[in-house]
Amino acid sequence: MRLLLICAALPALGWAAAPLDSDRLAAEAASLIPPFQQQLLQTVQQAVASGGPTAAVEACQALAPGIAAQHSQSPWRIGRTALRLRNPANQADAWERQVLEDFARRSQAGEPLAQMRQAAVVAGEFRYMQAIATGEPCLACHGSQIKAPVAALLDQRYPQDQARGFQLGELRGAFTLRRPISEVQP
Ligand code: HEC
Repeated sequence: MRLLLICAALPALGWAAAPLDSDRLAAEAASLIPPFQQQLLQTVQQAVASGGPTAAVEACQALAPGIAAQHSQSPWRIGRTALRLRNPANQADAWERQVLEDFARRSQAGEPLAQMRQAAVVAGEFRYMQAIATGEPCLACHGSQIKAPVAALLDQRYPQDQARGFQLGELRGAFTLRRPISEVQP
């Protein structure tokens, strides 16, 4: 009887009853990235259009964390991380660092960044990362020829900034998503 009760309780725990559907979770994670990415881009582009690149740095600093929070639809949390950071709050944890290093190695070996992604279950969470390439519009703030007023503002706002000197097409960082697996519905 006790065994039966335990078994009956298992489906309520979700993941315990059925193997984790990693493909479904990865697809769910991937679907949250484009709207997040688009809103970040639009925010930067609007700020550039209205006040130039320094205004865009200010907009990015002021709004990027809020945009991430807004796109973190429960139970998912979404953000960005990188090996060379601008905002220290975006620091990679051990798993993220390992994945970023793997992405960098694969990219150096010639694999395109566009399809580069990694999923894993780490410490009770489903984790998902997708590579971010350095595009043309990114160079104004992350390239090697940043205009003097922008560089001065970055010096002031991000005294430990390491996110400069990127080349077009180089790995800039990654989107990173996580959710507890205890809440996964069977
Ligand atoms: C107008 C300047 C500006 C432009 C253009 C810009 N960024 Fe950034 N970027 C920033 C600032 C400022 C931050 C720190 C904001 C934050 O996340 O708190 C940042 C942070 C990031 C981060 C988070 C990791 C970190 O270093 O803190 C990534 C990844 C990133 N940018 C990628 C890109 C990519 C890819 C592009 C082009 C599509 C781009 N950026 C264009 C200013 C810019």
